[in-house]
Amino acid sequence: MTSTSGRPAILIARKVFPEVVAHLQQHFDVDMNETDDVLSPQQLAQRLQGKVGVLTTGSERVDAALLTACPQLKIVANIAVGFNNFDMAAINAAGVLATNTPDVLTETTADFGFALLMATARRLTESEHFLRAGLWNRWTLDMFAGAEVHGSTLGILGMGRIGQAIARRGAHGFGMRVIYHNRSRLDPELEGACKAAYVSKEELLREADHLMLVLPYSAGAHHAIGAPELAQMKRTATLINIARGGIVDDAALAAALRERRIAAAGLDVFEGEPKVHPDLLTVPNVVLTPHIASSTMATRTAMAMLAADNVIGFLTQGQAKTPLNPEVLST
Ligand code: DGY
Repeated sequence: MTSTSGRPAILIARKVFPEVVAHLQQHFDVDMNETDDVLSPQQLAQRLQGKVGVLTTGSERVDAALLTACPQLKIVANIAVGFNNFDMAAINAAGVLATNTPDVLTETTADFGFALLMATARRLTESEHFLRAGLWNRWTLDMFAGAEVHGSTLGILGMGRIGQAIARRGAHGFGMRVIYHNRSRLDPELEGACKAAYVSKEELLREADHLMLVLPYSAGAHHAIGAPELAQMKRTATLINIARGGIVDDAALAAALRERRIAAAGLDVFEGEPKVHPDLLTVPNVVLTPHIASSTMATRTAMAMLAADNVIGFLTQGQAKTPLNPEVLST
């Protein structure tokens, strides 16, 4: 479908960087949601009338209702590696191409995972809040004594590209023993490069001093870490979630933190974000950040550019760099 200018029309569902808009404008009539507000499903369907492509973030849901309301849509390009906002069965049934943004964010996200691990284990924000509150009046030997990072055991649940990048940092940078659990075991060469050993989920929970969650969200991963799993962890352990909200049962985690059944947690993602479970806001031994693991200007720009390239490639040449359902390309 083309606009009155004769060029195909597309929508950018959230405000993106000017260079990305300019890149897309070379090929299309571009409508952009200029605000940082998430369009409601009705607003999104309405803005998509007459549009053949859309750039989304993890906040816009693409499902059967939207696709039925927008039958002219050909491509949905997520500016995220995670795509749990996409109903892939409905997208496949509609013959629409879906794309995401892997690789460009791997190292940046792994850096952040490590930053959150360090901040959590070494009680960085808790001690800063104490200092800012004017409570520091003497030095003591055990002041904010945290958990050792170097030489400890790093457990990784989910061993895709980001998990592997975290494993390399832990093993090579911090001399950690790295263990992991994943749906499928890595091939021996990759395991060797990451210096990581495959273990059962039970062993992972039992052995990890720091447990890092990097698995994609799916119905099967819902509350993969809940009260029963937290009960299997060491009382001295830390839990880091840079994956997706919903993988952790936040209410159960807040209770475990309050009762010191685990030592601390670092969370970048939350069930129902941007709302945060109120109990998490009142426990001191948790570091909370607003879903920023991939947020450097360079990486967020690369993610938006990759999404734009997918839209341009598909609508002008029938090709995309990072398709989620490549079978659509050949139909
Ligand atoms: C991703 O890329 O999936 C990040 O979580 C940002 O949404």
